[in-house]
Amino acid sequence: MLHGNRIRLRGNEHSDLPKFVGWLNDPEVRHFLSKVLPISEAAEEHWFENMLKRPPEEQPLGIEIRDGEGWRLIGNCGFFDINWRNRSAEVGLFIGEKSCWNMGYGTEVMSLLLLHGFGALNLNRIFLHVDAENLGGIRAYEKAGFTHEARLRESNFRDGKYCDDLIMSVLRSEWTPEK
Ligand SMILES: CC(C)(COP(=O)(O)OP(=O)(O)OC[C@H]1O[C@@H](n2cnc3c(N)ncnc32)[C@H](O)[C@@H]1OP(=O)(O)O)[C@@H](O)C(=O)NCCC(=O)NCCS
Repeated sequence: MLHGNRIRLRGNEHSDLPKFVGWLNDPEVRHFLSKVLPISEAAEEHWFENMLKRPPEEQPLGIEIRDGEGWRLIGNCGFFDINWRNRSAEVGLFIGEKSCWNMGYGTEVMSLLLLHGFGALNLNRIFLHVDAENLGGIRAYEKAGFTHEARLRESNFRDGKYCDDLIMSVLRSEWTPEK
């Protein structure tokens, strides 16, 4: 369990899958996620079984916020494609509960992932891809300390047109835990 100020990150459970299916079939949630086909519960079961076979460091983490005395799942995040020789990894996140957008949770999740990636996994470079039109996401990543690194021109076909993706990154040497 990774604890932030208002959030905690925990391992995914099988019982989370119906929420994931609902969120990932919501056009607004999936708009910037490069997902163009409907997702079935059967496909999500398959994803879950394969996810458990991944290295522990690359298994996604559920994002939870306080809900009364308990906790409520609002999204998912995690590291993938970790290269241990280069000590580099890609990071990703989505908040499926739309009522929780623009409340600072995305920034807090990224800050916690940076703390975990640099402080516990001993990574040196953490990067992400983001759609150049995903202004809320870009702002959240900037607030967490990410730097604009590259623009992948027309790398993504979305909504009938080619769109740019951005690569943003943080190096261990430029990261401060307060961010
Ligand atoms: C993208 C996402 C992770 C951001 O998380 P979040 O909790 O909404 O982000 P935060 O509240 O921490 O920060 C968002 C910032 O962007 C700003 N913002 C939102 N929409 C904006 C827009 N259209 N233009 C400019 N800024 C915008 C917010 O005001 C906020 O900045 P502020 O705190 O300075 O006011 C979340 O909205 C999400 O999961 N969306 C759906 C899936 C997705 O796009 N995932 C990311 C794929 S890379």
